[in-house]
Amino acid sequence: MRLDRFVSKSTELTQQQVSDCIAQANVSVNGVAVTDEATQVHENNLVQFNGQTLVPRPFRYLLLHKPQQTLCSNVDGVFPSVFSLLDIERPSELHIAGRLDADTTGLVLITDDGRWTFNITSPKYACYKTYRVNLAKPIKEDVAERFANGISLSGEKGLTLPAKLEVISAQQVLLTLTEGKFHQVKRMFAAVGNKVVTLHRQRIGAVELDVPEGQWRYLTAKEISSFYSAKSEDGAALS
Ligand code: URA
Repeated sequence: MRLDRFVSKSTELTQQQVSDCIAQANVSVNGVAVTDEATQVHENNLVQFNGQTLVPRPFRYLLLHKPQQTLCSNVDGVFPSVFSLLDIERPSELHIAGRLDADTTGLVLITDDGRWTFNITSPKYACYKTYRVNLAKPIKEDVAERFANGISLSGEKGLTLPAKLEVISAQQVLLTLTEGKFHQVKRMFAAVGNKVVTLHRQRIGAVELDVPEGQWRYLTAKEISSFYSAKSEDGAALS
């Protein structure tokens, strides 16, 4: 972790105060004053501020049931940010592990642990995300096979990774993906001549959405660690 982030996560200082105290050589790493705020430090380094040892607060991991017309962004825009639903200290330290569109509902994971997020969002780790999709037209018979083989999306090189389609009814399906390209689900159905009417994410990896819309909860230790034991690209296949 960068030194400025380490100091931030160990104190109540503002970003500016952190930068100032590092620039003024008030922070030391293993006994040596360090003035470059981008210096990488690890938990086993001794980081001190004015002689006091700093201990970062533990990472936070939570899930939120995102309503429609909210933004997966740290600031409000046309709609309020999902962070406005969190009655939690220091929300600005948190980020979203895999955004949803403003009109998409469902499961959003939120954390301040960037490495953990990478395991969820990088296609390399094949973390499954399952969406319930309502469609404008009945689903055609060949779509499951086309999605399983990968399809071409406009503006993208190569094919989408294998995706699993389960038909619930003529116009409602479950789609499971291991990647998250921009508007991917909507673009995949557009590519096969259909249109997404409503989109809801109900599962990410082992974590199932289980709180009412607009509510959130902390993840359990088992849920958190499930993303560290996720399979790499050669280990996972959609069945
Ligand atoms: N795919 C989309 O098209 N939109 C989302 O919000 C998530 C996946």
